[in-house]
Amino acid sequence: MSTFKPELKKYELPPLPYNYDALEPYISKDIMDLHYNVHHKGYVNGANAAIDKIEKIFKGEVKDHDWAGVVRNFVFNSNGARLHNVFWQNLGSPGSKGGGKPGGKLGDLIDKQFGGFDKFKQVYTDVMRSLTGSGWTIMYYEKDLGRLVFTTVENHFINHIVDLPIVILLDQWEHAYYLQYKTNRNAYIDAWWNVVNWDDAEKRLQKHL
Ligand SMILES: [Fe+2]
Repeated sequence: MSTFKPELKKYELPPLPYNYDALEPYISKDIMDLHYNVHHKGYVNGANAAIDKIEKIFKGEVKDHDWAGVVRNFVFNSNGARLHNVFWQNLGSPGSKGGGKPGGKLGDLIDKQFGGFDKFKQVYTDVMRSLTGSGWTIMYYEKDLGRLVFTTVENHFINHIVDLPIVILLDQWEHAYYLQYKTNRNAYIDAWWNVVNWDDAEKRLQKHL
């Protein structure tokens, strides 16, 4: 019998940084309530259940397990929890904290790399629209080459999500928009431009410059 007692820290659901109706009319109060309290919370709980299982495996209490399935389940849920943590911070009330154009270093980088915000917006919108199925579109900073990079992520699966220097991202799972936009996902993508929090994006970029 092993005497090893692992102490694996658990994930927590951080508080939403604003009220459920803060992003209206672009993202409805009902969506925010469900998205945060059911979906995000579900990923946190799922990640912690995966950690419980891993602890039991370490202790020798689960003999018959499939490591590939255990790891996949942990990665799915923990990445889901982490991506949503960023997502809420990355949004803000339209007209005050959300929308408009980025300034600062991010604005300079966008001008240098894309020739202006309008071109950037057009290209990034096309990338968001290109994702099929459930997933995320992420813009991160590639530090060694000093440039912004777009990527699309199916479900929640991407390697090194913990250290990925995310600048902005959009949740494109149906649970993020279906209640309000039904099958018109492009309208949800267009609406997102009114609630993206460029101050938060700038802070994220500055951490990696
Ligand atoms: Fe989500």
